[in-house]
Formats: sequence, C-alpha cells, structure tokens
Amino acid sequence: MTAGEEKILSEKVINALGRTYHLVLTGRDLGDRYPGMMIYTLQVMSGGEVIARFRTNTYEYPPSSPISASGVIQARSDEWVKELLSDPSRFLQSRERMMIREPDDVPSHEVLIFQGSPRPAGNCSVLASWAQAEAERTDSSARVVYLDDLAIRACIGCYQCYNTGACIFEDDMTGILRSISHARIIVICTPVFTNTVPGSLKIMIDRCQAYHAEQALTGKKSGKTGLLFSVAGRQGQENFSCITRVIDAFLKNIHIKPVRSVFFDDLDRIGDIRNIPYAEEKVRDAMRKILRERG
Ligand SMILES: Cc1cc2nc3c(=O)[nH]c(=O)nc-3n(C[C@H](O)[C@H](O)[C@H](O)COP(=O)(O)O)c2cc1C
Repeated sequence: MTAGEEKILSEKVINALGRTYHLVLTGRDLGDRYPGMMIYTLQVMSGGEVIARFRTNTYEYPPSSPISASGVIQARSDEWVKELLSDPSRFLQSRERMMIREPDDVPSHEVLIFQGSPRPAGNCSVLASWAQAEAERTDSSARVVYLDDLAIRACIGCYQCYNTGACIFEDDMTGILRSISHARIIVICTPVFTNTVPGSLKIMIDRCQAYHAEQALTGKKSGKTGLLFSVAGRQGQENFSCITRVIDAFLKNIHIKPVRSVFFDDLDRIGDIRNIPYAEEKVRDAMRKILRERG
C-alpha cells in the first residue's frame, strides 16, 4: 500500500428493507511518518451519504495487547453487517458515529498570540501587548492567550486523534485548537526556560498533535504563517537556538510557515524589555511585515 493513500480493503453491499447499504473498509498507511501506523476506517453509506463511521489505528494497541486494530475493525464490520441484515432501523438509531469533528462557531481572530511565560506582567506579556497593538492598529483582530491561566492536560500519546482528528480530552485546549484553525497568523512569545520553553507552552504544543492528526486525515494544509518573539536572561543570541528548534518543529508539524523571529537577551527582571532601545519598534516592525505578507 502506498504511504498516505486511502486504499479500499473490502466492500460489501447489503440490501435490507428496500434500502441499499454500502459497507466499505479502507486502510491508510502512515508508515512514512509513523513507522507501522495503519489507520482503518469502516464506513456505511446509503443514498449517497455516510451514515456511520468507525476508525481505529495500530498505535492504539500495545504489542502485548491480545487485540489488534485489524482484528477490531474486522469484528466491527462483521457486527454491522449482522445488525444491518437483522434490523437496519435500529442500526440507524443506535449507531455511534465517529466523524471528523467540524469546528464549532467560535469567535475568530486573524492573529493569535500565545504568551508562554507564567509571569502575567513579565517581558513576554509586554511583547504580546505590543504585537496585539500593532495588529489592531492595522485593523486585524488579535487575541492574546495567556497559557498559564488555562487548564490544559498534557498529551498522553494515546494516538486516538488519528481516528477522529480531535483530542479525547475536552478542556481549554478544545477552544485553542479551534482558534488556531481560524487564525491566519500565529505569534509565539516565550522566555527561555532551562534551554527550552516553559511547561504550559510545551503542553499546548504537544496537544496540537490533534491538529496535526486532523490535517493528516483531511489533507488540509494551513496556509498560516508564524512569528516568534523570545527573551532570555543570559547574554548571547546562542541562547535562542533551543527555542528556535522547538518552535520551528511545532509550527512545521502543523504546516505553519515560520517566517520571522526576534530575540532579546540579557533580560531578567519583570519589565526589563521596556528599557531596551527600539524593542517595541522591532516587535511592531516584525508584525507589520507578517501582516503585509499574509496575502
Ligand atoms: C525556571 C527558569 C528557567 C530559566 N532558564 C533560562 C535559561 O536556560 N537561559 C536563559 O538565558 N534564561 C533563563 N531564564 C531567564 C528568563 O528567560 C528571563 O528571566 C526572562 O526575561 C523571563 O521572561 P518573562 O519576564 O516573560 O517571564 C530562566 C528563568 C526561569 C524562571
């Protein structure tokens, strides 16, 4: 099976009570990105519509598990055939459908700014406020997300997002994922914390795996661009190479083009950024460029 392509593995046509149902089992090999990952999808179609869908993938089952993705999907297929033949109306009423979730209506902002520092009035908050002010000055709607104020569980690596395009957890990340999908520009403001980003930002980054999975399932590419502002206590631009690696990996994972970064070193006390000559102008200038480039 070619990597990434959805292939039909089996098809059945069932005629019951004057209606025709097509039961289609497909497999998608994501082994090029995830060694050994196969996503199986079982769909029932009738009258040109998908009326039921179940999806499972090989990463959900540890090697020691007595069940496997292929066994589970086959068992589900046999069960649905039996139900459709015996009582199709009950099948339609009781079927729990596992569909790709459409984003709900949420207030959308063109520019989404993540403030990753736990200090609510620290240097990154100042950077975020300058970025927001510049976006609003050019009539773009912008929202600053203070990640430390949110309740977001860490990713547990269950890989169920590869079945539905959504995370199994319903918490503050649900809204964040929707906001990301609506935004056109993603701005990250982060301090260097022990040669990486602070914990709450890292948790948000890892939970974006669900967005990556949704893109893998739907083939949607984002067309968004990303901008990074960072501050470090130590002197020297080399302090930011760790941040660039993390943020570039994050943005690329969700198909966002990292276009620009602006770094401020040698800053430790709250508000020190305000004493840096031209800091605000550098932030506003980077924002102006990315807002102009957006297409
Ligand atoms: C837990 C912690 C770890 C830090 N680790 C680093 C580091 O590895 N390298 C560095 O240059 N600065 C480090 N710093 C300093 C911060 O990057 C610096 O104080 C920054 O200005 C904080 O940004 P904020 O005001 O937005 O919170 C650390 C600070 C804290 C609290």
